[in-house]
Amino acid sequence: MNDTILEVRHLSKSFGRNHVLKDIDFAVRPGDVTSIIGASGSGKSTLLRCINLLETPTSGEILFHGENIAGGKVNANSYRSKVGMVFQSFNLFNNMTVLENCMVGQTKVLKKSHEEAKANAMKYLEQVGMAPYIKAKPRQISGGQKQRVAIARALAMEPEVLLFDEPTSALDPEMVGEVLSVMRDLAKEGMTMLVVTHEMAFARDVSNHVVFMADGVICEEGEPKELFEHPKQDRTREFLSRFMER
Ligand SMILES: Nc1ncnc2c1ncn2[C@@H]1O[C@H](COP(=O)(O)OP(=O)(O)OP(=O)(O)O)[C@@H](O)[C@H]1O
Ligand SMILES: [Mg+2]
Repeated sequence: MNDTILEVRHLSKSFGRNHVLKDIDFAVRPGDVTSIIGASGSGKSTLLRCINLLETPTSGEILFHGENIAGGKVNANSYRSKVGMVFQSFNLFNNMTVLENCMVGQTKVLKKSHEEAKANAMKYLEQVGMAPYIKAKPRQISGGQKQRVAIARALAMEPEVLLFDEPTSALDPEMVGEVLSVMRDLAKEGMTMLVVTHEMAFARDVSNHVVFMADGVICEEGEPKELFEHPKQDRTREFLSRFMER
């Protein structure tokens, strides 16, 4: 248990009277690729946003290497360099080039020199196949390319964990594959990932752990093969069968 990177304990979050997360517990260990699935509104994004300090939990703890980060005491930028996040809508800086997007966090937060940041950015842009586009601005590249840049930007911070919130949901169908393929390669290399996704094939084939959320609770979790082939809860079965119909 000592090598646990992230541990969520009794996490609850309410927006007014809307109890969005109710007593969530789970852990992320090195090399885990955890997929979070569940219907719209079940609280998946809110959970990731709490873990990335974009929301403040109403109660409970989020432990990063045993230290509670939910109390407002940690420096958000330095924490986010270790627990990076990739968003559905890319969130690139539109006034910066592809290369600058992948350098700015390194120079501002990690205090790396321009040269070092550039070399590191290039390494990860090559990894995602975006090195030929370093001079482009986000508006000049496709959605799939933007998301690959966003992944390179996150990787350039050399995080311990990467959080993904539906990274392919805003993409045209023909671009989903290129992003999933980058994520598959990352998983193969042993990157620790927590992925909210509607891509059931990814959840089943790439992750080693699947969490099914419903109405703000973890309804069921387990190994992908087990959860997809032998769901224990009625709600999981309903969700999966509705999904397969589509
Ligand atoms: N900032 C906010 N203020 C008020 N309510 C919010 C806020 N963010 C989320 N909610 C509510 O919390 C609930 C869970 O939302 P959340 O975005 O976490 O769901 P989700 O599982 O990510 O859904 P989806 O699959 O559609 O992305 C919803 O009822 C939503 O309206
Ligand atoms: Mg969401």
